[in-house]
Amino acid sequence: MAWSSAHGGFWVPSRYDDVFEVARDDARFSSARAEGAPENSITIPSQPGNRNVPIEMDPPEALAYRAFLNPLLSPAAVERNLVPRVRMLAEGFVDRIADRGSCDLIADIVGPVPAVLTLEWLGLPVTNWHEIAHAIHGVPGYPKGSPEHDKCLAILGELHAEVLELISRRRKDSRDDITSYLISKSVNGEPLTDQLVFEMVMLLIFGGIDTTTSLTGSALAWLDEHPAEKARLLADPKYLQQATEEFLRYFSPVTALARTVTQPTRIGGQGLQPGDRILLPWLAANHDPEAFEEPEVVRLDRSPNRHMAFGIGVHRCSGSNLARRGFQIMLTEVLQRIPDYRVNREDALRLPSQGLNGGWLTLPVTFTAQPRRGSPALDALLAP
Ligand code: HEM
Repeated sequence: MAWSSAHGGFWVPSRYDDVFEVARDDARFSSARAEGAPENSITIPSQPGNRNVPIEMDPPEALAYRAFLNPLLSPAAVERNLVPRVRMLAEGFVDRIADRGSCDLIADIVGPVPAVLTLEWLGLPVTNWHEIAHAIHGVPGYPKGSPEHDKCLAILGELHAEVLELISRRRKDSRDDITSYLISKSVNGEPLTDQLVFEMVMLLIFGGIDTTTSLTGSALAWLDEHPAEKARLLADPKYLQQATEEFLRYFSPVTALARTVTQPTRIGGQGLQPGDRILLPWLAANHDPEAFEEPEVVRLDRSPNRHMAFGIGVHRCSGSNLARRGFQIMLTEVLQRIPDYRVNREDALRLPSQGLNGGWLTLPVTFTAQPRRGSPALDALLAP
């Protein structure tokens, strides 16, 4: 257990077993936001903004809302409803740059695919995906009070207004989107209020954008330095599945989230008091040598691989099936269409602050230009 006096003070367990124990025990370690608190409970430092549901709730309340998400994001639902859309977006965004011979993998491919997918799925306009993705990374990424942080909060403020407006439109005129689906739900016989629908939509925006971008960008940068693995990933679907888990473990894109202690207790030999804050570093747990042999080595066929990149316990990521498939589809499309891409390391930039999600801000690459095939479905979606 490490102690930091930053941000009001917090504990950091770094062993796999301690992170596992905290994440699995919602009675002792709460995810809930205190009644009326203006800042969130699940990041350190906490951030101003709306509550996110169900991640800022504890059981049993959390489970009622989580139950709405599970059928949307089950393996079968992802395969049926979302994979065709991810494919269209991945093919389209790669096609748009195929004849150029150079691009930025983040801005041109792995940024837009998850962002546009998520916004469209929820029923929101997609054309300003870049601004929204930037703000979602930037709020936890930039120091509080900095001009960049304020700018990101302002963008999210506009998004809030847009989501509330969407909810009010969908109440009158339901469509085939997730916002309309959530509006149709009730808990204990009471329909979801606009506020609750808003809090769920916002969590799906936070969960769906930036996370898969971060994973795929990191994997593509790693593969640039390990070209022999590219062909093997394309040829062997089982290897691609194992590699997905290893990239998740090694990069752990959502690096850490937080809990609040509810009762006097101990973790890792350390006494804790109610109100103490704990940062749960999934990244550190996934690099614990007691849990993973040679954790600093990327072994794409590592097995077993019980990583906690998606968390563990009742809040374990609802979007894990979508994240895995989205990653695999984007990766495969890049490796098929522009297999000889090379990262221009001098101009590649890591995110200036890691915030919640690690990864790359830009990954400029060059490759042998290919003829375009055309992407009318994407052109239509992005038309103003
Ligand atoms: C590589 C991609 C992703 C990673 C690494 C990731 C990671 C995580 C982690 C670590 C948690 C646990 C939070 C906690 O215990 O406090 C979580 C929760 C969550 N994630 Fe993801 N996520 C990813 C993609 C997604 C996607 C694509 C979606 C949405 C479509 C999503 C939606 C959610 C939601 C809704 C929760 C909260 C679940 C609950 O509270 O019951 N995530 N994610």
